Amino acid sequence: MRSILISDIGSLVGILPEGVYKKSGSEMSETGILEDAWLLVRDGKIVSFGTRSEGIPEADETISARGGMVLPSFCDSHTHLVYAGSRDGEFLDKINGLSYEEIASRGGGILNSADLLRRTSEEELYCQARERVLEVIRKGTGSIEIKSGYGLEKDAEMKMLRVIDRLKRETPALIKSTFLGAHAVGRGRTKGEYVSDVCEKMLPEASSMADFVDVFCDEGFFTPEDTGSILKAGAACGLPAKIHANELAESGGVEVGVRYGALSVDHLERSGPAQIEALKGTSTMPTMLPGSSFFLGIPYAPAKDYIHAGLGIALASDYNPGSSPSGDMRFVMALGCIRMRLTPVQAFNAVTLNSAYAMGVAHLAGSITPGKIANLTVTQPGWNLTRLAYHYRTPYIRTVLLRGLPIHA
Ligand code: NIG
Ligand code: FE
Repeated sequence: MRSILISDIGSLVGILPEGVYKKSGSEMSETGILEDAWLLVRDGKIVSFGTRSEGIPEADETISARGGMVLPSFCDSHTHLVYAGSRDGEFLDKINGLSYEEIASRGGGILNSADLLRRTSEEELYCQARERVLEVIRKGTGSIEIKSGYGLEKDAEMKMLRVIDRLKRETPALIKSTFLGAHAVGRGRTKGEYVSDVCEKMLPEASSMADFVDVFCDEGFFTPEDTGSILKAGAACGLPAKIHANELAESGGVEVGVRYGALSVDHLERSGPAQIEALKGTSTMPTMLPGSSFFLGIPYAPAKDYIHAGLGIALASDYNPGSSPSGDMRFVMALGCIRMRLTPVQAFNAVTLNSAYAMGVAHLAGSITPGKIANLTVTQPGWNLTRLAYHYRTPYIRTVLLRGLPIHA
């Protein structure tokens, strides 16, 4: 029953009553803030908070925030951070003018990462992925969804899922895992053969390790019909869906995701009124990945239109070697403000509570709420949410706590 008091908090940001799991429409412009505050943590969980004038509780240990801001750790609901090596050769192709689709159609892209992953030992893959997890923890991320999808055949997909499983157990981050066998058609298979493999051979085995199923439903990859078959097979194995939709074209991904009750539909760069209509009144979280728009030079998802229509949105990094080689959620928040014209509070809600919802952990993380895991960032003095996005490269973190413990990652 060890207790830790965080004292001298300049502002405690992201306070939320129990039982609220997402914010929509105008709620995205609100966040609970307490000035001159303290926060009590016990057994890795948030117990209570208050202002100095209300009196400060006793604790076994005290950490002074020295006037800094305390906020919930970022939740990153969409990453592919288990991958082998890098694709820096393709980066040069990209600089020389090739598009993401052109690189993929020459046999590069995801297939290139899959070739390398199959040649990489499970231990080496784990070590590389662990470094990335520790890197993003140092940058303020506490919860991470991680996808398979660079195996593209059963054994290599299971190797990826085992690596994610080990990251769940051996790092302090709160991790969820997603089976994305349908990320591209594996070499030497027709699409029909591959979709059958995913449904009949891979999914039954993947479902013992994965929390969700995902499909890259987009032009040149998988159709809404393929996606429907895979989501149906996933549901039969008990896996809720989170899907890639509308990155490269108006793919029909949003509609099929909604039809299967997906927890989130992600990307949405090529979406508009029809997709917004399809999402209204559903429990599916529209999730946008501005890091890929930035890196690929494609449009940003129309976040404001979604919010004006009364929907909530989440923002995530898409950390992967092909379209977003960074898992920096503070940069994602800044892109949300600078490029998608979200206010800092809207962007903050999108990278915390709504992203927690989009990975099924909003009951555990994403806000300052008694009972939630104490995944917290303590900033240097003088910071606020606006400055976080505005001075988007200035170091701001003083301490990171995950599960109530200071991190020395
Ligand atoms: O979310 N779009 C599909 N998958 C990733 C890219 C993966 C890769 O290129 O390695 C994405 O952008
Ligand atoms: Fe992705």
